[in-house]
Amino acid sequence: MSRFFHLLNLIFILYILNIPPSENVDRNNFKTCEQSAFCRRQRKYKPDISPYEVDLRSMKTIRSGHLQFILHNTLKSPIKFQLDIFTLEHNSLRVKINEKNPIRKRYEVEHALVGEPKLVDVKLTNLDGKQVEGSFSKSAKFLLNAKPFRLDLFTNGIFVMSVNSKNMFNFEHYRTKPGTNESTGENNTEDNEDGMWEETFKTHQDSKPYGPSSIGVDVNFLNFENVYGIPEHADAFSLRSTHDTDPYRLFNLDIFEYDIQNPMALYGSVPYMLAHNEHATVGFFWLNAAEGWIDVNNDKLTVQGFFSTIASFFSTKPTADKNEVPQVSTHWMFESGIFDGFFFLGPTPRDIFKQYSVITGSVPLPPLWAIAYHQCRWNYNDEDDVRSVLNGFEKNVIPLDVIWLDIEHTHGKRYFTWDTQKFPNPEKLQDDIARYGRKLVTISDPHIKKDDAYQVYADAKALGYFVKTKDGADYEGSCWPGASMWLDYFNPDIFQWYSQRYSLENYKGSTGNLFIWNDMNEPSVFNGPEVTFPKDIIHYGGWEDRDVHNLYGMLQHMSTFQGLYNRSNGHIRPFILTRSFFAGSQRTAAVWTGDNAAQWSYLKIATPMLLSLSVTGFGFSGADVGGFFSNPDAKLLVRWYQAAAFQPFYREHAHIDTARREPWLFGPDNTRLIRKAIEQRYNYLPYWYTLFYKQEKQGIPPMLPLWANFPKDKNVFKTEDLFMVGNGLLVCPITEADTNQVSIYFPGENTIWYDTRTLIQYNGSETVLINVDMESIPVFQQGGVIIPKRLRRRRSSMLALHDPITLVVALDRNHEAKGELYMDDGYTYDYKHKRQMIYRRFIFRNNELHSKTLDFTGKFETDAWIERILIFGYPKNPKKVIINSGDKQAIPLHHYHAESQMLTIRRPGPLVASDWTLTIT
Ligand code: NOJ
Repeated sequence: MSRFFHLLNLIFILYILNIPPSENVDRNNFKTCEQSAFCRRQRKYKPDISPYEVDLRSMKTIRSGHLQFILHNTLKSPIKFQLDIFTLEHNSLRVKINEKNPIRKRYEVEHALVGEPKLVDVKLTNLDGKQVEGSFSKSAKFLLNAKPFRLDLFTNGIFVMSVNSKNMFNFEHYRTKPGTNESTGENNTEDNEDGMWEETFKTHQDSKPYGPSSIGVDVNFLNFENVYGIPEHADAFSLRSTHDTDPYRLFNLDIFEYDIQNPMALYGSVPYMLAHNEHATVGFFWLNAAEGWIDVNNDKLTVQGFFSTIASFFSTKPTADKNEVPQVSTHWMFESGIFDGFFFLGPTPRDIFKQYSVITGSVPLPPLWAIAYHQCRWNYNDEDDVRSVLNGFEKNVIPLDVIWLDIEHTHGKRYFTWDTQKFPNPEKLQDDIARYGRKLVTISDPHIKKDDAYQVYADAKALGYFVKTKDGADYEGSCWPGASMWLDYFNPDIFQWYSQRYSLENYKGSTGNLFIWNDMNEPSVFNGPEVTFPKDIIHYGGWEDRDVHNLYGMLQHMSTFQGLYNRSNGHIRPFILTRSFFAGSQRTAAVWTGDNAAQWSYLKIATPMLLSLSVTGFGFSGADVGGFFSNPDAKLLVRWYQAAAFQPFYREHAHIDTARREPWLFGPDNTRLIRKAIEQRYNYLPYWYTLFYKQEKQGIPPMLPLWANFPKDKNVFKTEDLFMVGNGLLVCPITEADTNQVSIYFPGENTIWYDTRTLIQYNGSETVLINVDMESIPVFQQGGVIIPKRLRRRRSSMLALHDPITLVVALDRNHEAKGELYMDDGYTYDYKHKRQMIYRRFIFRNNELHSKTLDFTGKFETDAWIERILIFGYPKNPKKVIINSGDKQAIPLHHYHAESQMLTIRRPGPLVASDWTLTIT
């Protein structure tokens, strides 16, 4: 059904049921594109011919892999731009465009990249003085067209991306204000459009002292029909056309009661988009921290004129009758900064993950406990409350690793303090929590209460550490504590100083067992424009918030990370959860999707939101289990626990006004179901931990869209109701109340999928109706993958560290399988600095299962052993099973279940760290 009819239908149903369509957010508090002057200007910029031209004669080779050109706007001849092209390792290209001699320096983003990207040589061909072609890296090529400026990109000889092929490149250079003393007298009316020199939104006036400075550009993905990424939006995974809506907005904001399925901004921004089709996966990342808007349109490219000369490079040939190929056209608009675009040319999904992580960094291996289960609430009221919740987990035999304290634990929202009435002995509390290897997380927001008696405030005030208004005064706004000020982390001294607040000495009552949650760091300013900083306030270096806005939250959590890192002299891995983020945040913090609601639709949207985060580098992310606002019924809560058990960050959290919802409050049967879901998470922790290790090394997120594992299966390019954990598990969250059956498409050709509960086998490329009950959500293990698990019941992940391992070997059609296991101490950097780790590979082939090391330099002392091997899809009852490890041989017991084709090998016995071979005859 078309979207339009679907909508009509919905309105009709709501009408007869007399239910008003639910809309939570107050949209009036947030700008539309029309209300944002630069977006309005850029969105309507659509000339027939682009006035921008590259002067190819100006080409300079600055060094190998770095070319420089002059770019002109032929309508504004005195203004010159510098175009820099950098050919990078790993099939990646960087293109920068900046004003050549700006009257004011333009902001270039700091802190986001992990280092200086590495250049590679380029082989240049000058084609008729009209174009320059450059081949570089493994299989990448660019074609720079001079008149007009256009940049085309190819991977493996396939034409994949084109910049400015729609003529929307539009760079607003800095200029003097018409009518002022400094003005050149060119009193151009064009320079005095509405909103260029000031802008008012509600009662807030943006003074715009430097005038217009925005940049727009079209980036078009040829032969693609799906693009993904640019979080954070509560919207579809395959991005929707914005033809009839606002563009997707990137501007870190605290949107109270955010709505779903719309392109409004949210707490974090990552200006990175991926495109995927059956031939290639590619990506475009515009390193820009200002407010951004991105239009997405699925259209067709007519292959005529220039494009007909390169039609042979299309991955799919244009249709004969229409001479057209599909494309996704995107239009990117940022308020200031420069054009600093990275083009990742894949061509495989794995390549793309690597390429982006080489530039912005990957999620470092979290402590083991951080990927286990977390219990949070706004608020656990006092020490007794915390202890009684911990007792609840004891009594109900539910594993738990972390308990959290929200803002009410502080003395009047003064972070780094405690409400001593309620938390008289926080160190003792943390020691008690630590008894079973558990941790405490406390919240620490960036607003600093304006109170001379509060040491953090008084010191920061005296040192001049707060963000300034345009007139140089300390900027004051309001947040949880009332009148507040905000630290200017952009200043390296302030960054250092803030990080030191986390030392055990400064943060009284904290211990090494306490970790941190940075919230409200967009930042949220209750009385600010759009609930955040005014754009004309000033940060370190004289930059307006306009230039750097989307970096603020990242700088706070980077500084927090530094603090926790220093607290242990770099020995213990920090854990930080942040609400606001930017590209690069993944290096120091996990993220969650903020204030969702206890509704089925929010459980459902969690999957596409987390997938969008995953493919853009944020592999450690989650959504509040149960929904933050309002009260979930038992069914919704159970389904949420079941789904989130397979999502990277697993935390229950709830608003202060909601009813208590600890796992045991919904009757014995629901307690049992929740326990089962959480136990499932703990059972799979060895697999999760291995995936997180691979993420650090290769940039591959643990939670994946199906196309990442099945790049050629067109049926899954839009899939967002299923996801994968690694390449081993296919997960189907149940997101409707009364579901008895779900229809599941199993991806891939010739694949086999084993229902992890019933062991029923399903074939790839088939759609099957699967029965569902409340016991669990459907989860399937892919044939060909071996998954390590721990099946003993423990109170926490850290107590299970040396527990024995069960290997689940799911055979493919050739009766083969492989998998990996990574292990270390679970909390220090010794895995890195002292190579105290185990990384094993398991291969099942020709009726033999081998365990070999994947890393000869690693060594970790553990008596963990292989307790059980389950082989799914084993065709017959074998005669004998023998295991050889070193010079030892054993004949473990085995059991064969013919109906489910499962072979169980009991207590095979080798140490996890040793080499061994199991032979089945
Ligand atoms: C907003 C956060 O999103 C929420 O998780 C938290 O509970 C409240 N702030 C109070 O700190």
